[in-house]
Amino acid sequence: MTIIAVAGGTGGVGKTIVETLLQEPKHQIIILSRNEPKEEKEEEKEKEDGTLPKAPHVQIDYSNISALTQTLEQHAIHTIISAITIFDDENSQAQLNLIQAADNATTTKRFIPSEYSFVQTEDLLPIDPSIKYWLSAAKALQTSNLQYTRIIPGFFMDYWGMPHARSHLSPHVFGIDIPNGRAAIPGDGNDTLCMTYTYDMAAFLVRILELQVWEEFSVVVGDEVTYNQLLGIVEGVTGRKFEVVYDSIEKVKKGEVTVPAIPDGYSEEEAREMTALVSRLTISGAFDLPQERLNGRFPDLKPIKVREFLDVWRGKS
Ligand SMILES: NC(=O)c1ccc[n+]([C@@H]2O[C@H](COP(=O)([O-])OP(=O)(O)OC[C@H]3O[C@@H](n4cnc5c(N)ncnc54)[C@H](OP(=O)(O)O)[C@@H]3O)[C@@H](O)[C@H]2O)c1
Repeated sequence: MTIIAVAGGTGGVGKTIVETLLQEPKHQIIILSRNEPKEEKEEEKEKEDGTLPKAPHVQIDYSNISALTQTLEQHAIHTIISAITIFDDENSQAQLNLIQAADNATTTKRFIPSEYSFVQTEDLLPIDPSIKYWLSAAKALQTSNLQYTRIIPGFFMDYWGMPHARSHLSPHVFGIDIPNGRAAIPGDGNDTLCMTYTYDMAAFLVRILELQVWEEFSVVVGDEVTYNQLLGIVEGVTGRKFEVVYDSIEKVKKGEVTVPAIPDGYSEEEAREMTALVSRLTISGAFDLPQERLNGRFPDLKPIKVREFLDVWRGKS
């Protein structure tokens, strides 16, 4: 039995990975968290709601590398899957410390960094400066003795199924605001978007644990569509004609983007920054993923396609 720790297994992507791993009895799962395990009553409620995966929590302090190393050895952790949120120096450093601790721990051999996005390369740094965090994790892993792979599912399909599709991700609107019948599309709407449902990405992740050799990138794609195709499917399923704005490439480059909707908890400015960033990435082709994919390796796994996924909108608004 392999003991697998999911760091940040309490978050959107992490919970999905833990839930999926728990269906595979070959592995023993531990969640690494900065927080104490929840009060019993709260935990019971979350278990009943299905919002808390049933795996033991181990509280850790990411700033203490030697204590982290001890914890990994004490629990005989062989593989770490990181699903820590990565967007600033603090959480990036937390993951770098975990990589260092994993490299020091005699029991830990494998590490999947938190990434779950497009192929992040140096040439995209001018478009998305936060790529530096993913590059520094990759560099730390390259210079370690750990085996690692970077999971690349593209966009998560979940965003276009919210709030009806099952998902642990925090809600966000990209391009098409389905409930309000509006779309704000970057460029001409013909850029390819590779996307995968979180639970399908997690299913592939579980399967790569069986592989002896891990490539630098483990690309998985549920489906690939353009915004124009996505909009056509949405209009077909909902039976509504959407109000559509196209932001030209020049406008996107200047950050003059149309925000389709402001998600809860975001200021208008934050929503605009996020829209501008994702729009720049879209028109640069970042979501058009390489053809070498895990799909061919595991043909028995059939990730859901966009058309079927968006059926959650049938008869709903
Ligand atoms: N491709 C896509 O469309 C897409 C969409 C969403 C996310 N992602 C990627 O998926 C990964 C996880 O994102 P998420 O949305 O699931 O994250 P999240 O839910 O916001 O956070 C995940 C976990 O990170 C831990 N965490 C937060 N701040 C931390 C810190 N300073 N130090 C250490 N741990 C910290 C927390 O766990 P504890 O409090 O239990 O420690 C939290 O539950 C990220 O790499 C993100 O970029 C990709």
